[in-house]
Amino acid sequence: MMLALDDAQLKQFDEEGWLFFEDVFDADEVALLNREAHRIFAMDRQEVFREKDGTTARTAFAAQNYNDVYHRLGRHPRLVNPVKQLLGGDVYMHQFKINAKAAFNGDVWQWHQDFGTWHRDDEMPEPRAMNIALFLEDVTEFNGALMFIPRSHKAGVIEAGHDLKTTSYPLWTIDDETITRLVDEGGIIAPKGKAGSVIMFNSNLVHGSPSNMSPFDRTIVYLSLCHVDNHIRRFKRAEWIAHRDFTPIECLPDDCLKDESAVAAE
Ligand code: SIN
Ligand code: MN
Repeated sequence: MMLALDDAQLKQFDEEGWLFFEDVFDADEVALLNREAHRIFAMDRQEVFREKDGTTARTAFAAQNYNDVYHRLGRHPRLVNPVKQLLGGDVYMHQFKINAKAAFNGDVWQWHQDFGTWHRDDEMPEPRAMNIALFLEDVTEFNGALMFIPRSHKAGVIEAGHDLKTTSYPLWTIDDETITRLVDEGGIIAPKGKAGSVIMFNSNLVHGSPSNMSPFDRTIVYLSLCHVDNHIRRFKRAEWIAHRDFTPIECLPDDCLKDESAVAAE
């Protein structure tokens, strides 16, 4: 369980650009979210992006708008409150995605910064936005763990090229020379841990993940939260990729994923 971030955690986030917590969500909560994620991946809707093979789910956007369990996760105090603390005020949901990184077929996410995309495509003014992500399966050295270059967020927005070819999903990616230099300075880390773990990272932290050739899925759900004053100015991308509802998120109670009466009322 995660309460308010303490001084040591605030310092690590500022200096290294990321924080990792185990045992934030319990096995029942994870099982419910996982069941719903796989139901969503099987849906035929535009928000569910496929890998290049055309069938394997890659990422499902905006599930908080069409699935009751994810609607509640998008307002979960264990995810929203630490981000409000770090960003210093009310936040809205800029993007919400469940990344599948499916067994055998889950493809690479090239090296990138999220704020680079939010700034270039959506005209988000400042990096007063960040991700908080929840592991719905154990993340190991085998199933395409997310990799970070610690301290790379200190470099600000790095030049990037719009890669429309490598995977099915267009991304502003960083060249090999720059990555080499950043890794010389900061190294690479890949936080691994049990389902129910949570990771938070600065929106300028350079990150990516290799493909998943293991027989183990690696589902992770990402809330990209933005300070309400820092909302996007340009509506180029689809509403379900870059949201336009800047209403401050109001958290639900801590047990909102356990309230069976709410599930029954769906
Ligand atoms: C991302 O950077 O948006 C996704 C990376 C991953 O899920 O591996
Ligand atoms: Mn990213």
